[in-house]
Amino acid sequence: MKKTLSAIMAVLMVVAGASAFAGGSKDSGKITIGANIYNFADNFMNGVMKPELERYAAEKGAKIEIVDSEGQQAKLNDQIDVFITKKVSVLAINLVDPAAAKTIIEKAKKANIPLVLFNKEATETGAMASYDKVWYVGTNSAESGIIQGEMMLADWKANPSWDKNKDGVVQYVMLKGEPGHPDAEARTKYSVKVFTDAGIKVQQLALEADPNWSTQHGNDKMAAWLTSSFAKDIELVICNNDGMAFGAINALKAAGVKLPLYGVDALDQALSHIAAGEMNGTVLNDGVNQARATLDLAINAAMAKPVTEGTAWKLAADGTKAVRVPYVAVTPKNYKDFQKK
Ligand code: BGC
Ligand code: CA
Repeated sequence: MKKTLSAIMAVLMVVAGASAFAGGSKDSGKITIGANIYNFADNFMNGVMKPELERYAAEKGAKIEIVDSEGQQAKLNDQIDVFITKKVSVLAINLVDPAAAKTIIEKAKKANIPLVLFNKEATETGAMASYDKVWYVGTNSAESGIIQGEMMLADWKANPSWDKNKDGVVQYVMLKGEPGHPDAEARTKYSVKVFTDAGIKVQQLALEADPNWSTQHGNDKMAAWLTSSFAKDIELVICNNDGMAFGAINALKAAGVKLPLYGVDALDQALSHIAAGEMNGTVLNDGVNQARATLDLAINAAMAKPVTEGTAWKLAADGTKAVRVPYVAVTPKNYKDFQKK
């Protein structure tokens, strides 16, 4: 029985594999994808990932439904139950809480539905290994912090006037994203580690985190820092993402203060701020390719094919079952290359 089944499966897989993947195969037309965004209010997720998930699913001829989890993990758990009841072919999930992947993986496993997590990497040990049909699409989080740090270090060295009090130490403020989010943790750590590794001392004057990585948070915290006792000591503003950087820029403008300021994501608005000299650099977080990789893996998984088959994606060699899309430095020198033509 087992033998016959696997023989049938082999034939089916050859047939499925024969139809070209590029440009949308007939098979992918029957595929339904149950997806979410952790919070539609997030600039990067709503402005870059969601539109590309929709566009690329249409290009592939697959049906996608994307729901808003409104920053609530409990809401996402319920949304998964609904998708399972609807018998979707595959799940593409943006965790709200990176430490709550196990519950979702268990639900998918019980229903035997493949699952592709994206943007927020599961942090619970053993979570990814607990199901053979779960994968992750995102980035190498540390890379964004290192690239941001390298840009800041080069500019710091080239602009001696940035060391306002001439003590050789970088007095900085940090706008951090969601605590516990691998991207936020790594960016916060590695951006300043680049300085200390180069033998330059740093002093953190303030750090404020926001689970929603929001512009409002950036505005409110920067405004408060600019009226604090250390306001005049600030030499550098480090932002874990562009969304918070935009808020900080508003607050700086309102106070009539100019400070070196860096973000991550390379949103269109960030490129305009670089053009206007209001931002010194950002790091491209390639949400378009992350969305495409998410769907390529999801569609392959739904067709019981090896997930990267017929695609340009490669699973990381570290056994994490992850596709990691590279980050790119965006500076006043090259930002034009990233602007939409
Ligand atoms: C992005 C942030 C975004 C976060 C959401 C990060 O990779 O850089 O802008 O808020 O993902 O999880
Ligand atoms: Ca200094």
